[in-house]
Amino acid sequence: MFLKTHFIRIAAPLLLTPSLHAAEIKIPDPLAAPDGQLATTPDAWMANVRPPTLQNFREQIYGVRPVEKPADFQAKVIREDPQALDGTATLKEIEITYSGPGGSGKFHPLLLIPNSAKSPAPTFLLFSFGKPDASIEKEKFGAWPVREIIARGYATVAFHVSEVDPDRADGFAEGVRAIFSKQPLAPNAWGALSAWGWGASRVMDYLETDKAIDAKRVALIGHSRCGKAAVWAGAEDPRFSYVISNNSGCSGAALARTKQGERIINITTKFPYWFCENYRKYADHEADLPIDQHQLLGLIAPRLLYVASATQDSWSDPAAEFESCVRAQPVFRLFGKKGLESETQPAPDQAMLDGGIGYHLRTGKHDLAVSDWQHYMDFADRHWK
Ligand code: GCU
Repeated sequence: MFLKTHFIRIAAPLLLTPSLHAAEIKIPDPLAAPDGQLATTPDAWMANVRPPTLQNFREQIYGVRPVEKPADFQAKVIREDPQALDGTATLKEIEITYSGPGGSGKFHPLLLIPNSAKSPAPTFLLFSFGKPDASIEKEKFGAWPVREIIARGYATVAFHVSEVDPDRADGFAEGVRAIFSKQPLAPNAWGALSAWGWGASRVMDYLETDKAIDAKRVALIGHSRCGKAAVWAGAEDPRFSYVISNNSGCSGAALARTKQGERIINITTKFPYWFCENYRKYADHEADLPIDQHQLLGLIAPRLLYVASATQDSWSDPAAEFESCVRAQPVFRLFGKKGLESETQPAPDQAMLDGGIGYHLRTGKHDLAVSDWQHYMDFADRHWK
């Protein structure tokens, strides 16, 4: 099903990969309702544009969550250490349990709260590729610099995405998707990225009950596949007040229609289970998508958004990630927020922190580095305090 969409025409060459983008490409307008009418007020956008846009992302790309908080949802602290990280933090291991028609499931977020906090702490929620361990600050897939986060007055919580839904093509039976849906899956049924986002929402359900946490200031952060999950979860669940995409690339922050490096055909061939089946229709047919990823970024507005790229990460395509931020700006502006600090992609390692959309291009490879975290916390310092 294709909705009639109002398109903006771009002819300008994009940054970093100019020659490949010179052709005319039609990009959907993030302020347009399905009938083509442009929203001119936040209320009109919330009523007429946001719901059908969100629904298009569910139906065509990530799949529909069949459940939110299950009836028998429980979150318990199963381990607590008030003197973690040399006495600077309180560590809590949480056990989240639930059941549905297909069985029961559980996962174990690890939370660290600064002992210096005099009021509920703003929090960074990390989608983790591995089992979070507060003693390991450098994971295989990116940093979780817990000491630095705590020293800056933030709490942080991480959960292992594969505990919610295994990050494997044959992992379906062992995850939350099997508990709430049956195979064969419908063409719009949730993929693993959506299931991981569901997990983040359940962590939020717990955080809202913990008096040490300021649940109005929770940032979602993920790198790479987890960056895609973070942006999608931030669109689905408006309780997250700050959403961070670290090198999320294809099907994350990057615009699909101008994308170089990884494209839909690559990602749906290698990782079909991350998405709903409908997404495969757009492999090599990006122009047929009724939406593009800048509208996903627009769904975060008017909340805080940060997108980061890395100079050597051509598979993610920094130009397409930045272009997506540029094209998401009208939504932020509609809400009276500044979009990006500047529409020119900044020099490497120059963070743009002044708008409602933060951005930097780190020198180096595809990674979540401590320096990325520093920019994300600087942005929070500036906009949250
Ligand atoms: C692969 C995949 C990317 C993804 C990355 C990751 O490279 O093609 O889309 O971001 O894995 O998650 O590490």
